Amino acid sequence: MTSDFKVTPWETTGEVDYERLIKDFGVEKITDTLLKKIEKHAGELHYFLRRKIFFAHRDMNWLLEKYEKGEKFFLYTGRGPSGKTHLGHLVPYIFTKWIQDKFDVELYYQLTDDEKFLFKQDMSLEDTNSLAYENAKDFMALGFNPKKTHIIIDSEYSGKLYPQAIKVAKKLTFSTVKSVFGLNDSSNVGQIFFTTIQAVPAFLPSVLKGKNIPCLIPHAIDQDPHFRITRDILPKLGYYKPASIQSVFLPPLEGIAGKMSSSEGQAVYLTDSPNEVRKKIMKYAFSGGKDTVEEHRKKGGNTDIDISYQWLRFFEPDDRKLANIKEKYESGQMLTGEIKQILVDKINKFLEVLKKNREKAEKSVEKCILRD
Ligand code: TYM
Repeated sequence: MTSDFKVTPWETTGEVDYERLIKDFGVEKITDTLLKKIEKHAGELHYFLRRKIFFAHRDMNWLLEKYEKGEKFFLYTGRGPSGKTHLGHLVPYIFTKWIQDKFDVELYYQLTDDEKFLFKQDMSLEDTNSLAYENAKDFMALGFNPKKTHIIIDSEYSGKLYPQAIKVAKKLTFSTVKSVFGLNDSSNVGQIFFTTIQAVPAFLPSVLKGKNIPCLIPHAIDQDPHFRITRDILPKLGYYKPASIQSVFLPPLEGIAGKMSSSEGQAVYLTDSPNEVRKKIMKYAFSGGKDTVEEHRKKGGNTDIDISYQWLRFFEPDDRKLANIKEKYESGQMLTGEIKQILVDKINKFLEVLKKNREKAEKSVEKCILRD
């Protein structure tokens, strides 16, 4: 494990040491005791929890205590619309959907077209805004309950967001923003202000309903710096600190360092055809197999670095099937071409369902968008 890695909301590089991030970010590891509590309420554990894909949290115990006392929470998650949705984005969403189903709660989904306009030099607000609508369809295709899902497109909901964002802004100094996000004197002022907008959905339902409602934010660990700030400020405004739960990254095809992203390397998109998926995986998925078939049969492959296996941890929910693949690959019975084929089939089946759902989702998106 190298110690040279970086995780910020806008950039992830190097081989991420999650244990170190727990310390550096100050999140808590998810313990077996917490898992038991979640299981007690949900009736089962999602495989992302069983496999520690969701590995850390802030204040989940508090949130569940409130829930036990009859105080329901709401969910909040989001997306920065800078491109097409890839499989990595789905990791927090798949989990969010499970929580919505198991706890029967409301969900707020923020599309930060303002953020991506401010941070991407080559994108206009029209670009990011129209991508927000595409991303929203991908999101709804996962099957969120449209009656309980509310979509916020930042540039179109500013009447409600802005008055709350400036309350956050008044409690936040430039020096905090610089130190938390690594922004500097050359950053544009929109970038400096932006985190206040991402803070708002964590308490907006409390504002709208006129009472404090607990909030749970599922996301991958890179977004935590925003919510560290949010958690510091909300009590000063009279609201609860939001609870949060963090996942690891779906690694890029090319190897376990970094995260799958559109800006670097190959990503698999929801819109990829079955043939494109096959080609990308066959060509780019880093193999933990040995150089020759002979050697592989003798010594077996390394699942710790084999991307096909690592991706199956995210997309094969059946523990027994996954264990069987691991055993066969590590013992050399299964070759790299075979494990890649298993992954190709799995992803293509998954995407086929999403593509069908997406057509239906187009209608529900409009109904779910909150308007000023
Ligand atoms: P964005 O669009 O960068 O990412 C959307 C969500 O996907 C997660 N993510 C990943 N998870 C696993 N593996 C990956 N390879 C991977 N790449 C991205 C991100 O952590 C995120 O949860 N500023 C935010 C948008 C936002 C938001 C929120 C996100 C607004 N409010 C509340 C989470 C929660 C952004 O640009 O996300």
